[in-house]
Amino acid sequence: MRIASAWQLLLPAVLCCCCCIDGAAGQGWRCRFPAVFNFGDSNSDTGGFWAAFPAQPPPFGVTYFGRPAGRASDGRLVIDFIAQAMGLPLLSPYLRSVGSDFRHGANFATLASTALLPNTSLFVTGISPFSLAIQLRQMKELSNRAIASGATSGQLPPPDIFGNSLYTIDIGQNDFTSNLGSQSIGSVKRTLPSVISQISWAIQDLHSIGARKFMVFNMAPIGCYPAFLVELPHSSNDLDEYGCMASYNSAVVYYNELLNNSLAEVRKTLQNASIVYVDKYSAMLELFRHPEDHGLKYGTKACCGYGGGAYNFDPDLYCGTSKIVKGNIASATACGDPQNYVSWDGIHATEAANNIIASALMSGYYSYPPSDLSKLCRP
Ligand SMILES: *[C@@H]1O[C@H](CO)[C@@H](O)[C@H](O)[C@H]1NC(C)=O
Ligand SMILES: *[C@@H]1O[C@H](CO)[C@@H](O)[C@H](O)[C@H]1NC(C)=O
Ligand SMILES: *[C@@H]1O[C@H](CO)[C@@H](O)[C@H](O)[C@H]1NC(C)=O
Repeated sequence: MRIASAWQLLLPAVLCCCCCIDGAAGQGWRCRFPAVFNFGDSNSDTGGFWAAFPAQPPPFGVTYFGRPAGRASDGRLVIDFIAQAMGLPLLSPYLRSVGSDFRHGANFATLASTALLPNTSLFVTGISPFSLAIQLRQMKELSNRAIASGATSGQLPPPDIFGNSLYTIDIGQNDFTSNLGSQSIGSVKRTLPSVISQISWAIQDLHSIGARKFMVFNMAPIGCYPAFLVELPHSSNDLDEYGCMASYNSAVVYYNELLNNSLAEVRKTLQNASIVYVDKYSAMLELFRHPEDHGLKYGTKACCGYGGGAYNFDPDLYCGTSKIVKGNIASATACGDPQNYVSWDGIHATEAANNIIASALMSGYYSYPPSDLSKLCRP
């Protein structure tokens, strides 16, 4: 069966979810969460990393925000589309000390974060110091402050909000990819169970402070990412008919199965919790394989990059940077039509792709248990 047609059928359900929130009062409760608390990496960072380590260069943010907005995209991320569909403001990064508003949640994700505590520094390997355990400590700090301050005050969430909120977790990709340059797929695979344990532990830890509704995103098909197609060792017969690296994608599938199984175990211990496994992998794979079916043109070619060719990605000239090449300044700039690309910068998706992926994920078609967001909201 072609997944593409199923998506299109499911899209109206999502639109219904949005219309209920913004429109007819009596129905809004069905999919309304008062707040979203998100944990993750660049796939869902809405400005945390670039608040801590300013500043993000253009052309990031150019399509939607018209300026760099701390997101690794030309516009909104999946988490932004989810927040908007739920009638909530875009999530403020916890690390942003100027202009943040946490009354409807907070975003603890930072670019280059790992699930496991890093053994290295940002300044050595580019891995963020804000790993999942640190993000949880920040969450507890926020919740303790909100509870201590009593009634709604300033920019803090109301103290009774934590049990009704949605907790989203989208992390693990950097644990996987950051070691692939120096280690074989096989040896990286052996570290993956500890990554999964960390995520399961995070859910239990959040549950202990009152969290009950979780969405856990699985890992994306990184074997289709232009950056990894350029950087990771592979032979040409490892490429599948869509131009994606089969070996890396099958390692991701292995990871995703472990995650799915682990969540099933966690569900048994936390019986009052709703823990939804979100199959981002399949939604994104469909887009990389059949971009045209979803109104896009290019799957495995980056919009913002340097060098052109099949991937338009140069590891020494990442989107938004410049360097001297043969005596001239060369810059990695954006294509003129990001709305036609799945990949923005070789690693992260465009606003156009994120919009399609978010709609697909919110429909519930890619969730286990197969519930849509509106069902998750039902009391
Ligand atoms: C860091 O090192 C410790 C001890 O060797 C190990 O248990 C842990 O898994 C390592 N973390 C990562 C991210 O590799
Ligand atoms: C996840 O696990 C459940 C069983 O717990 C299974 O029914 C479902 O098909 C799995 N989903 C995926 C995408 O592997
Ligand atoms: C589930 O929630 C109910 C009602 O809030 C509570 O009485 C019960 O103890 C909870 N059960 C577990 C296993 O936490």
